[in-house]
Amino acid sequence: MAFRAGLITFIRYWLPEPADGIKLMMITYVKLPWLDVSQAFVCFRSSRRLPENGIRTADQVIIDHTPSTVAMTDNGLSVLKLIKARSWHEYVKTLWAHSRLFKEVQGNRLLTRLGVHVAAIHEVGIGLLPGSRYRYLGYYIMEDLASVGAQEVFEMFLSGGLTPEERIHWLDLILDDLRTMRDAGVVFSDCHLNNVFAHPLKQHVIWIDTGVTRYFCPRSRKFARKFNYSIRRLADYHDQHLMLTLEEKRRILALLLPE
Ligand SMILES: Nc1ncnc2c1ncn2[C@@H]1O[C@H](COP(=O)(O)OP(=O)(O)O)[C@@H](O)[C@H]1O
Ligand SMILES: [Mg+2]
Repeated sequence: MAFRAGLITFIRYWLPEPADGIKLMMITYVKLPWLDVSQAFVCFRSSRRLPENGIRTADQVIIDHTPSTVAMTDNGLSVLKLIKARSWHEYVKTLWAHSRLFKEVQGNRLLTRLGVHVAAIHEVGIGLLPGSRYRYLGYYIMEDLASVGAQEVFEMFLSGGLTPEERIHWLDLILDDLRTMRDAGVVFSDCHLNNVFAHPLKQHVIWIDTGVTRYFCPRSRKFARKFNYSIRRLADYHDQHLMLTLEEKRRILALLLPE
């Protein structure tokens, strides 16, 4: 009984808000033959859009690098993000829901509650068996932002197709969200322009890669230090490939808290 109650609390707590009112637990297999991946996961589904047979495949890789593999699912409608285990410690963290997978899924929920737009998550899979063939801590499947007409802000800025005023407009939308996070004591860990999409039709921005840390005392010096670090990092992050103007940097740095 206690186990069942614990499990239900676990599911309620970790799953993203269900898109169509369901929360299903099942075993899924992610198969990516071109990367020699075949791994089982305990999965929590919150959408009926995904195949009932539990097989998850992808046919077009978006990026495969040290922290993750990101690919389009084979029906071309969603994006599959697999989080790599960088050490066995990360599997241990899974046991009390502290792994990078949980941080991103939990961050996605927290930002939604704050009114910040994020990519909707349809399913979360948790890898329970560490081993050489089981290289992923887990995965999640989310809506494909490109298919709704959104574009990575970094790519949009780099393309050179925006006027200076349009750049400032998109940057200000990003800064509005960062201000909301700041006021709620939240630091977005990997804050840069590859992790935020612009949705020109809806005129808002959408965040991905949502690892966040919440500090319960937003007025503390510790929070100010961590928040300021992420803001200074954002201002300089793209210097090698995409130089932000002095005015753009000035606006970003105006978010800094007194330390
Ligand atoms: N929901 C999504 N829709 C469209 N593209 C995405 C989506 N999620 C990720 N991507 C693409 O994949 C890249 C890597 O994803 P990300 O979650 O940032 O992985 P990482 O943690 O490895 O940086 C992004 O920069 C983006 O181009
Ligand atoms: Mg990223």
